[in-house]
Amino acid sequence: MERLGGAVRACSRRAVVITDTNVGPLYAPKALQSLAAAGVQADAIDFAAGEPSKTLFTLAALFDKLFALRPAIDRRTAIVALGGGVVGDMAGLLAATALRGLPWVQCPTTLLADVDASVGGKTGVDHPAGKNLIGAFHQPRAVVIDVDALATLDAANVRSGLAECVKHAVICDAELLEWLWQRHEALLACEPRTMTELVARNVAIKARVVASDEREAGARAYLNLGHTVGHAVETLLGYGGVTHGQAVALGMMVACKLSERRGLMTPAQAERVSGVLERLGLETRRSGLDAEAILNIVQHDKKARAGVVRMVLPRELGAVELLDVGPQELRGALAVLE
Ligand SMILES: NC(=O)c1ccc[n+]([C@@H]2O[C@H](COP(=O)([O-])OP(=O)(O)OC[C@H]3O[C@@H](n4cnc5c(N)ncnc54)[C@H](O)[C@@H]3O)[C@@H](O)[C@H]2O)c1
Ligand SMILES: [Zn+2]
Repeated sequence: MERLGGAVRACSRRAVVITDTNVGPLYAPKALQSLAAAGVQADAIDFAAGEPSKTLFTLAALFDKLFALRPAIDRRTAIVALGGGVVGDMAGLLAATALRGLPWVQCPTTLLADVDASVGGKTGVDHPAGKNLIGAFHQPRAVVIDVDALATLDAANVRSGLAECVKHAVICDAELLEWLWQRHEALLACEPRTMTELVARNVAIKARVVASDEREAGARAYLNLGHTVGHAVETLLGYGGVTHGQAVALGMMVACKLSERRGLMTPAQAERVSGVLERLGLETRRSGLDAEAILNIVQHDKKARAGVVRMVLPRELGAVELLDVGPQELRGALAVLE
């Protein structure tokens, strides 16, 4: 967090920190201190923590507070996102649209935001018709990650971020999967040196994929491994019923089962993925999930043609493919979650 001020000063002398009601009391004083020490004049604005706040209504309230600030903001004012993925998405969209675009710096404070949400420049809010339906691509000038902030993060959110790391490993780095297997204790304890290495490896993977395909025409879609079924599980269980990463872990189990049945993966490889997830405290099955309801949501979300959805499926460990999956096949694989 000490390095935040310098990173913001490189683009502006005036900044507005956007944070939420959980992160603000914990880290806004440190962030503001760092900005002041670097000669940046800054204010902080917060909104109620949690995904239900990620709406145009909250964004409108943020605009009101932003434009009420004195001295007034101008095109050179930097927005600083201090918080998890929700703050990053909201502050990023604010930066993309206020005065037709302000520079912004991300300071993520959840593991999910460190390894995933803070890289790639996607910003957005939810709409009653679906998640992340309103947004823009707007790259931050810098991302300042302080793994010490993970010390206050609850265990479920640590595991949620770890699930995205397993996803990165399955997509393109089999060696990372072994590393996650071996370091599970240090990872769950958020041991700072281990977290620094984890974040560095995962940011490098996401940055490489995004750089090769910023607007999601090809390879970036691979990052959706586990997300087709994962989003449906999130929709079914509702906000608070499951973390995003936990839902993605369940989605990866279904993807691995599909791969196994098609002969793209051996049963031992699929078992390795579930073994790593379990070691990291993630559920690999959940009783009581309604497979037909998941199937319906998937087909509705993906505007499936004749029930066929395009999914990311692992090919062995460390590679994936985009393949069409029919309803019967998906129904069969969903049984892995029971
Ligand atoms: N833009 C992208 O590319 C991208 C990628 C992945 C996810 N996302 C978005 O990210 C969001 C999920 O992000 P998230 O999991 O970080 O959720 P979040 O921002 O809601 O954070 C989870 C909870 O942890 C609290 N928190 C944050 N940092 C903390 C800390 N250091 N100590 C204690 N509590 C802390 C938050 O207040 C919140 O209650 C979703 O809205 C998702 O759509 C965006
Ligand atoms: Zn995700």
